Amino acid sequence: MRKNIVAGNWKMNKNLQEGVAFAKDLEAALAGKTLKCDVIIGTPFIHLASVASSTKLGVAAQNCADKASGAYTGEVSAAMVASTGAKYVILGHSERRTYYGETDAILKEKVLLALANGLSPIFCIGETKDEREKNVHFDVVKKQTVDALFELSAEDFSKIVMAYEPVWAIGTGLTATSAQAQEMHAYIRQTIADKYGKEVADNTSILYGGSANGGNAKELFACPDIDGGLIGGASLDVEKFIPVIEGF
Ligand code: PGA
Repeated sequence: MRKNIVAGNWKMNKNLQEGVAFAKDLEAALAGKTLKCDVIIGTPFIHLASVASSTKLGVAAQNCADKASGAYTGEVSAAMVASTGAKYVILGHSERRTYYGETDAILKEKVLLALANGLSPIFCIGETKDEREKNVHFDVVKKQTVDALFELSAEDFSKIVMAYEPVWAIGTGLTATSAQAQEMHAYIRQTIADKYGKEVADNTSILYGGSANGGNAKELFACPDIDGGLIGGASLDVEKFIPVIEGF
């Protein structure tokens, strides 16, 4: 059975003390509640070890290197991420693709290294506004999925969490409608089924990201192929993040 997941992505926000305090506050606020989803927080690298050792929340890095180790100044390897206790790594976020030139070929290497080190990638795909207007959004999302992931074995693919994040919806306040998101999620699941079979596809969690918040989470998460969210802005405050988690 696939899991429901709500994952926060802090991006480049919060210093170490703020991040650790947030994680403790979130954990305390969730303590008395019966949750219908796994909760993950995606922190900057420097927070990982402290947050992973001080809370039971799931912890994700937001990136890892495309090389295993060596003379790559400033990079952080998948093995280093795993050694902090983090279990997930967000890969392929559109901000990494756009601002740091991450191609499908680079992402393929990152995914392999993440899996080799026992991390589950939260793999982001999504079209730009221009691509949607040109009606090539399904092709774009399929290509991102196929080129980075479809050489994996079915066993390895089953460790991936997919995240559909239309670029035009990220940080813009423009959420995809639940119908638009459901349509794309169903397409992604079918694409996975065509390659790996129905069982693998049915067991894959596919998260929606892009201006998801406490006001729209419930409607999005009620869609049959939407298994949770990757949440940016609304994951930065405990009071804003909890209503998203409670969207399930
Ligand atoms: P947003 O970001 O929720 O602020 O739109 C989502 C993301 O980039 O993962």
